[in-house]
Amino acid sequence: MLAIGCDHGGFVLKKEILEYFDKNNIQYKDFGCHTTDSVDYPDIAEVVCNSVVNGECEKGILVCGTGIGMSIAANKIKGIRAALLSDTFSARMTAAHNDSNVIALGGRVIGTELAIEIINAYLSTEFQGGRHKNRIDKIKILENK
Ligand code: RB5
Repeated sequence: MLAIGCDHGGFVLKKEILEYFDKNNIQYKDFGCHTTDSVDYPDIAEVVCNSVVNGECEKGILVCGTGIGMSIAANKIKGIRAALLSDTFSARMTAAHNDSNVIALGGRVIGTELAIEIINAYLSTEFQGGRHKNRIDKIKILENK
């Protein structure tokens, strides 16, 4: 199960991503927002990330205007490793090396087709473990400092 959420700046891209998910039977939980009315992205980042941390959802997708605010907010939440993405190489690498459990996309930065390619690259890549696991363990230590 994927968690997905956006602010007003990411609303249009999120809607297009959800249409793709529906067509392809990809299961998701939509945490809003549900209109283009202005909302504060940290509020949406919090509920999406909490659903990942508590195990309700496996991974999260956050969309705002640039993806930057969502990624900053998400990375404040203990247990979240959020990657701001605008290319498919980084999407594969963050899954393989960082074991990212959330990705952030910019609805005013990338188009729908690229967003979907990024999501597919991210979701289809396995974490490599090994030396990368050691580094994730060090990030976890930083969380508790
Ligand atoms: C909202 O106007 C905009 O600031 C937000 O969507 C996002 O881009 C923040 O990083």
